[in-house]
Amino acid sequence: MSNGRLTDWARSLGLSTPIVCAPMGGVAGGRLAAAVSRAGGLGMIGMGSAGSVTALERELGALGDGIGAGGAPFGIGLVAWGIARDPELFERALAAGPALVSVSFGEWGDAHADASWVERVHASGAIAVTQSATVDEAMRAAAAGVDAIVARGREGGGHGDHQHPRDALLAEIIAAVDAPVLAAGAISTSSDVARVLDAGAAGAWVGTAFAACDEALTPPPARDALLRGSAADTLVTRVYDVALERPWPERFPERLLRTPFIDQWHGREDELAGDAEARSAFAAAAAAGDYSIVPVDAGEGVGHLTRVRSASEVIASLR
Ligand SMILES: Cc1cc2nc3c(=O)[nH]c(=O)nc-3n(C[C@H](O)[C@H](O)[C@H](O)COP(=O)(O)O)c2cc1C
Repeated sequence: MSNGRLTDWARSLGLSTPIVCAPMGGVAGGRLAAAVSRAGGLGMIGMGSAGSVTALERELGALGDGIGAGGAPFGIGLVAWGIARDPELFERALAAGPALVSVSFGEWGDAHADASWVERVHASGAIAVTQSATVDEAMRAAAAGVDAIVARGREGGGHGDHQHPRDALLAEIIAAVDAPVLAAGAISTSSDVARVLDAGAAGAWVGTAFAACDEALTPPPARDALLRGSAADTLVTRVYDVALERPWPERFPERLLRTPFIDQWHGREDELAGDAEARSAFAAAAAAGDYSIVPVDAGEGVGHLTRVRSASEVIASLR
């Protein structure tokens, strides 16, 4: 058990527990972020593939009193190709006064061509964080001046480069970089948190465990799917992205809870891309919120979710 212990990194951010609620598009809005930050962790607003200035403004408005600007800190998580597409979203995020800004799912070229965001985040007074799936990526991020790196294991929910198991990746990244390293991927219990802290992590970056919280944006039927799901029901696939023509780079498929639609098309993504009828039927199901067809993103720890809890209950169960 971690017994509520604190790391230097968490203390430097003013947290009372080294737990970050991962940015999750469509799940981690202002209400969840505020609830996590009020409970002593770091809450984050996630802007995923559907991120926009309008969506960010709405979620910033939902933070409520006492968060940011002298109150409890919060963070904002963005995807690299999303801010390349919509630079105003990045500007608005910096102007909101987050303590931490994460930009993930970009490329770290040899010349760090896309790393200018790191300096911009620093100039705003926030710390810059990114998720890495390999040691090489983590070293490039550290060389670009990123303040903390999230070692994201293949067990994790949502999009990512699902190559290495969390604990092995964490140990290798800690050995390779001087920056604080957080751990991500199926962190679901206080023993998971204790294990990654014992291994030297500066904190735990936790997604799925918060996804069924009552403060999350998760629609009720998606919540039910999370409560029913287990690790064996998760799959890493591009079917959802192809079906909705979402512009996620191919090297970042997502871990999600399978549905019959996903099973039907997994491995046949090219065929699905050419099947306008199947895609439009899926788009209609997505618009109607039919989660018997539409999958829900989840990591391999999803089986630990058995009831809807508040964010503070989840924090209490992790610390
Ligand atoms: C529903 C969901 C949505 C996600 N959306 C984002 C996102 O918008 N931006 C991001 O950087 N990471 C996103 N992630 C990945 C998380 O940052 C993190 O890597 C992951 O949740 C960790 O694994 P876990 O879910 O098993 O705890 C998402 C994860 C989930 C489950």
